[in-house]
Amino acid sequence: MNVQDAIKNRRTIHSFNTKLVPEIIIERAIEAANYAPCHLHTFPWRFISIKQEKRQLLANEALDLKFQNHSLDAITKEKVLKKFLNPSHLIIASQVLNADAKRELEDYAACACAIQNLSLSLVGDGVGSKWSTGKITSTQQTYKIIGIDPNQEKIIGFIWIGYGELPPKIKRPLVTSIFWEW
Ligand SMILES: Cc1cc2nc3c(=O)[nH]c(=O)nc-3n(C[C@H](O)[C@H](O)[C@H](O)COP(=O)(O)O)c2cc1C
Repeated sequence: MNVQDAIKNRRTIHSFNTKLVPEIIIERAIEAANYAPCHLHTFPWRFISIKQEKRQLLANEALDLKFQNHSLDAITKEKVLKKFLNPSHLIIASQVLNADAKRELEDYAACACAIQNLSLSLVGDGVGSKWSTGKITSTQQTYKIIGIDPNQEKIIGFIWIGYGELPPKIKRPLVTSIFWEW
């Protein structure tokens, strides 16, 4: 697949089935991430693949957040569980923190490039993904479950990986609406 096709075929998958992605494809995607541009070569991104046992704990945390003062509705509970357990892989993307604000901003840009490289590599292998940043990605309990020290690293997203339905098409900006030659 050429680069233009990979870019245009990448979509955020919201509903995953349970088909597993071969590890070799995941490793190739992480390698692609490591080729992201990175000022001063700080390579500030970290990826942790989370297995089912911990995903169940994260699902429990998500349920706690969603239903704090309400009774559990079985259908919604099932939906949350599937969201956490269905995708083949859940990779936690984090950024190593830096005391220097400019460096930290540039590091975040590099992390975003790394995640995009990872997603495009997956597209090339016929695999879908989703970058999510909901409340669950930043609670104290989530850091505890995953084993990340919030003083050292910031979780910048959950990357869900697997196979699933493509979402509806999005109307994109036209080249002529955002690019002029003077
Ligand atoms: C930094 C970032 C955070 C995102 N967080 C979420 C999220 O929390 N939940 C979600 O459903 N999608 C999330 N997305 C996916 C976007 O909603 C999605 O990229 C957008 O709707 C465009 O769709 P596409 O990725 O298929 O082009 C996130 C994307 C980015 C880049």
